[in-house]
Formats: sequence, structure tokens, C-alpha cells
Amino acid sequence: MSNVRPETMERITTPALAEAFIAEQVALIRQQVGDKKVLLALSGGVDSSVVAALLIKAIGKQLVCVHVNHGLMRKGESEQVIEVFGKALDANLVYVDATDRFLDLLKDVSDPEKKRKIIGGEFIKVFDEEAAKLEGISFLAQGTIYPDILESDGVKAHHNVGGLPEDMEMELVEPVKLLYKDEVRVVGDALGLPHNMVYRQPFPGPGLGVRCLGAITRDRLAALREADAILREEFDKSGLADKVWQYFIAVPDFKSVGVRDGKRYEGWPAIIRAVNTTDAMTATIEEIPYSLLHHITDRITHEVEGINRVLLDLTPKPIGTIEWE
Ligand code: XMP
Repeated sequence: MSNVRPETMERITTPALAEAFIAEQVALIRQQVGDKKVLLALSGGVDSSVVAALLIKAIGKQLVCVHVNHGLMRKGESEQVIEVFGKALDANLVYVDATDRFLDLLKDVSDPEKKRKIIGGEFIKVFDEEAAKLEGISFLAQGTIYPDILESDGVKAHHNVGGLPEDMEMELVEPVKLLYKDEVRVVGDALGLPHNMVYRQPFPGPGLGVRCLGAITRDRLAALREADAILREEFDKSGLADKVWQYFIAVPDFKSVGVRDGKRYEGWPAIIRAVNTTDAMTATIEEIPYSLLHHITDRITHEVEGINRVLLDLTPKPIGTIEWE
């Protein structure tokens, strides 16, 4: 299969085709790996999660998953990785809470590209350190998918957090590298992964780091995480989550004057961004009903400490990129 060009491959669109793909990959993985150990950086995103589930099915505890929490995850994401892989699938999971390391390094850094480089570089360091503690690892698994091989836009330093040092002397295991995202999802479903993990919207490697605009502070990051969780909850409830490609909150590093409980209340604005696209190169704005916008505004301004305004970003791409940084 790995020699077949994707253009000539039958696309995986049904559970039956997914089952056949899984059976084929399980056999190939066993053949490639034998009784050796495999290491995987498990972010909890669709691709690495599906690769983890495939490998667990093929080789069980010979797979070691390392989940690095860089402190820039969305609310509940690291917890779900522990729940699904550490508990339900009983995987060999190493969980590293590196929040302080990342946030200390990012302190006072406001340049977006510098922030990305620090996050990407530190991720590799933490992952390397964990890998060095393990013995007898012969293979490195990666959630590379077909568009990753095709894509490179040069507008931003899109190095995925999860991109690993080239001097790591390990043979690669990349079972989904010829699949498109929608196929990976069909396979994830067939593997029994939770719906919200398989149908998760794309999330940039640097995570909330590129949405907590300018120099990241812990209080503003916490406010962003809570506001984002409210937006996601309301999009889920209203059915918009299935219609909108990517939606999130960005919080800039300035405050405006407001009033709460009869007193002056200075706070940051929460900016809602909800876009539709097929390839992320261009994007259009999803229309959100005003009643829902009012409800989301009401919840965020009442429930999130430090936020006193909610704004809606109406800018298509181009001219705005999807992320603010
Ligand atoms: P932009 O902001 O360039 O985003 O319009 C296009 C898509 O890419 C995601 N994105 C990233 N993904 N590392 C990633 O892995 C990054 O540094 C990064 N920056 C943007 C963004 O979320 C959108 O889906």
C-alpha cells in the first residue's frame, strides 16, 4: 500500500473500508515493528490519536505514547488524552506537564514568530528528554497525513509542534501518511475513538499561544481558555460545531474600561473568530445568529474573570489569516 499513489487509491469513505484499512495496517505495523518498541508524540489531535489507536491495536504496550502538556492546550484536552489512552485503552502513556517550562520561557515575548519558535523548540527538548529516559525504542510513529507532505505555504513558520529533530535515529512508522483528513476520521470512528476527538476542529501546534496575543500572561491565558470553552460548548449545543470548520477566541493584550456591579471594571476583550474553508488557504465568515451571539457574550462576560467585552471578527482570509498571530 505504501507504494500506491493516493490518486489511484480507493478513498476510505465507509466503515467497511476503514475496517479493511485497519486490518491491513495492523498486519503491516506488526511486520515492520516485530517485538521492538515504538515511540509516539501524542498531542490528542485527530491524526496522532488515530495513529496511537492503530498502534495500540497492532502492538499494545510496545507503543509508548508521550503527551507533552505545554500549558497551551484547550480546556479539558490533556485530561481527555489521559482518560482515553491512559485509562480506556490502557496504553503505555507518559504524561508530562511542562506548563511552567513553556510559560516561563514565553514570559515577556511578544513577537508571534519568536513565540512559535520557542514553543516548537521547547517541545522538541521536552520530548527528547523523555525519549532519553526510555530504553530500547527502535521506531518513531508519526501522525503525518497526505496534505502534510504536500503543504508548505511560507506565510508563517508552520512547524508543527510534534515536528521532531532530524538527528533522532529511529525508523519512522507512519500508517496514515497516504490519507486525507476525512479518511483519518472514518478510520478513527471505526477504531472506536470518542466523537469529539475524531471530529475535532484543527488546532495549531502552538495552541492557545497564538491566540493569547502578544506576551502571554497566566491570567489572560486562563481567561482565554475559559472563554474558548464557553464558545465551544455553545457551538456544540446549537449545532454550529458541525457546520463551522474552525472557531475560537483570541484575547489581545490590552484592556478597556467597563462597569460591573456599579464599579469600574477594566478587562480584556474576547474576540470570536468562526471561519469556513476547505484548505485553510482562503476562508469565509460563518454567520452566527445574533441571539446566540448575545447569549455567548452574556456568558463570557459574566463567567470569565478579566473579560469585559466580546467582539466578532468579520474578516475573511485573505486579508486576515485564520489565526491572529
Ligand atoms: P492561518 O492563520 O495561517 O492558519 O490562516 C491556517 C490554518 O493553520 C493553522 N495554523 C497552524 N497550525 N502550527 C500549526 O500546526 C502553526 O503554527 C499554525 N498556525 C496556524 C490554523 O489554526 C489554521 O487552521
